[in-house]
Amino acid sequence: MKKVMLTGVRPTGLLHLGHYVGAFEKFIELQPSHENFLIISDLHMLTTRCSKEDIVSIRHNARKIIIDCIGMGVDPENTTFYLQSSIPELSYIFVLLQNFMTVGRAKSTPSLSDISHYIGVDNIPMGLLAYPVLEAADIFSIQADTVSVGRDNIDHITIAREIVDRVNRAYEADFTVPECITGDKNHVIGLDGQEKMSKSLNNTIFISDDKSEVDNKVSQIPWKSWTYGLKANPIMEYLRTFESNEDIVENLSKRFLDGQDVENEAREQVKVALNNLLVPMRKRVVQYESNPELVDEILRAGSFKVRKRVSENLKRLKKSLGMFNCFE
Ligand code: TRP
Repeated sequence: MKKVMLTGVRPTGLLHLGHYVGAFEKFIELQPSHENFLIISDLHMLTTRCSKEDIVSIRHNARKIIIDCIGMGVDPENTTFYLQSSIPELSYIFVLLQNFMTVGRAKSTPSLSDISHYIGVDNIPMGLLAYPVLEAADIFSIQADTVSVGRDNIDHITIAREIVDRVNRAYEADFTVPECITGDKNHVIGLDGQEKMSKSLNNTIFISDDKSEVDNKVSQIPWKSWTYGLKANPIMEYLRTFESNEDIVENLSKRFLDGQDVENEAREQVKVALNNLLVPMRKRVVQYESNPELVDEILRAGSFKVRKRVSENLKRLKKSLGMFNCFE
């Protein structure tokens, strides 16, 4: 039996190169040897964005995400896409798993301290505090063996492992303890040179950007003198991440560090590398973009299939805990 692999995306907007390098490149590499699932985690989105407008945009964003995923190379024949909020049994598992994690542990999650930095941890919504438990419920509910995530999610998978471990020990059960995998490359810095490529910072290259948009964005990436070193120069960082020809990267890096003026050459090379990556992706999306009904059907059929699986796992969990159901 193939191992089960899961990855997830919050439907906050379009997918960008940060998603690709963080989680999807690895997911796509491993998908032939796994049974694959992709959760559109709209309930996670609600922990930070729950205006009516945000919520109404989920349908549109979910479609876009599925199309972009297929564009990036996720195989729709071998991957089940599903919508978190359409699986009520997943939320039931979430409720049960909350009892296997302390508030103290939740408060010390590094990703949470980033988000709650300005407002203070006592002022955040309960849902946000429980964010990693919901992610653990996603993983638990399909009994995933492998979870592909960006580096900022590694702590969540650690928490998921702790939760399953606790359940297994306390109830002599053998639920799957998930393994975490992340992309091999460094994560992608923002177009502005900031630490992270992120939609909220408006410094992203989207998977669906066309050639002129990509060229335009690359033209605006700041250039930093060699005296600050290779890593401080965003163009050189992009080159290292996206140029597959090692000789080109090495040659330009060496000349950069020698103090030669390689700015134009390096910038043009980044444009070439990115377009080489993105052109085949754009080709794959065309067929789906013109057919939203097909995309909706992919999500509907996937959610239907997953719901059965999650119901089984909820039953198994309740049984392990010794719960009873007054209808049975
Ligand atoms: N928390 C992930 C994010 O950053 C998305 C996610 C939700 C996820 N559930 C998941 C990832 C389950 C992997 C597995 O956006």
